[in-house]
Amino acid sequence: MTRRIYIFDTTLRDGEQSPGVSLNTGEKLQIARQLARLGVDVIEAGFPVASPGDFEAVRAIAREVRGVTVAGLARTSFHDIDRAWEALREAEQPRIHTFIATSDIHLQHKLRMSREQVIEAAAAAVRRAKGYVSDVEFSAEDASRSEPDFLCRVLETAIAAGATVINIPDTVGYAVPGEFARFIGEIRQRVAGMEKVVLSVHCHDDLGLAVANSLAAVAAGAGQVEGAINGIGERAGNVSLEEVVMALYTRRDQFDCTTGVHTEEIYRTSRLVSNLTGMPVQPNKAVVGKNAFAHEAGIHQDGVLKERTTYEIMNPKMVGISQSSLVLGKHSGRHAFRDRLAELGYDLSGDELNKAFGRFKNLADKKKDITDADLEAIVEDELRPV
Ligand code: KIV
Ligand code: ZN
Repeated sequence: MTRRIYIFDTTLRDGEQSPGVSLNTGEKLQIARQLARLGVDVIEAGFPVASPGDFEAVRAIAREVRGVTVAGLARTSFHDIDRAWEALREAEQPRIHTFIATSDIHLQHKLRMSREQVIEAAAAAVRRAKGYVSDVEFSAEDASRSEPDFLCRVLETAIAAGATVINIPDTVGYAVPGEFARFIGEIRQRVAGMEKVVLSVHCHDDLGLAVANSLAAVAAGAGQVEGAINGIGERAGNVSLEEVVMALYTRRDQFDCTTGVHTEEIYRTSRLVSNLTGMPVQPNKAVVGKNAFAHEAGIHQDGVLKERTTYEIMNPKMVGISQSSLVLGKHSGRHAFRDRLAELGYDLSGDELNKAFGRFKNLADKKKDITDADLEAIVEDELRPV
């Protein structure tokens, strides 16, 4: 039977941990609204104890964004968990996500805790969170480098304490697909109570294997995938959610899984995240890169003109890229201008739109074809005047 895979978006938490990225509450709200439109199941809105700004952003998203679970991250300390709850209390579907590391490297050098102390901390944290919300996620940080017997004991303890989601992070992107699939299979088999909870994976991309590892885990029975739009995040980033979603869809013959994602919103979400974080998307990036559906070689162009599927395994329309890619110039009207901006992830109000349109017309008088980069520069300038 076709399985439903839950998509957990951490663009606003782990994604925002990308070096140099800092979003304010208004920007986080814009992204959260778009993530809800995209149809992700969970938005991890931030780490409320980390800073007053993070707390405010989580609270604003919890208050406003509906139809989606809103999660807040907390270490196992009661102070973290209490702050997470304060930030989340107005959410329609709140989730507290608590975590502690389980690898010996982290226990010895970072936490300076014994294995028994980690087990006690995990149980106490899940119980504390459970006093506030019914939906509690527990993550074993650095799970993929943890000793399996100990990891299984920690996970069993978290489930017995009331966790509803168990997350297996490949925190440092160390796993390789075959091994990670076996690891997930072993956890499913060995951990008592696993059949009652959702088993999740959270892969980082240090070896460029995050998508492969996430898909291998899904094939081995994982029911939730965590990641970020455009794959942003610590170091080499988190798994790129749009790539996972499109791989599950395009190769549904292999996975027999669905997600709740409205794929036509993918491109717009990618542009919005790139614009607001200031992190460009590499041109050859799968699914959302500028060249992802561009055909340069004559043989390829000829093939695609005769029959699109000769060189395209996905229809660009499916990810929200208009096939004809209208060129904007001095004869273009306000409607085409606004539509193109919407595709690029901008939702401008009347006054902003008028000003941006005026600047577009001035530029179009001097330059024949207006590119997406020109449009982005115009809008960025209009929205963020110096
Ligand atoms: O990478 C990681 O281990 C994390 C956890 C906090 C889930 O981001
Ligand atoms: Zn992470």
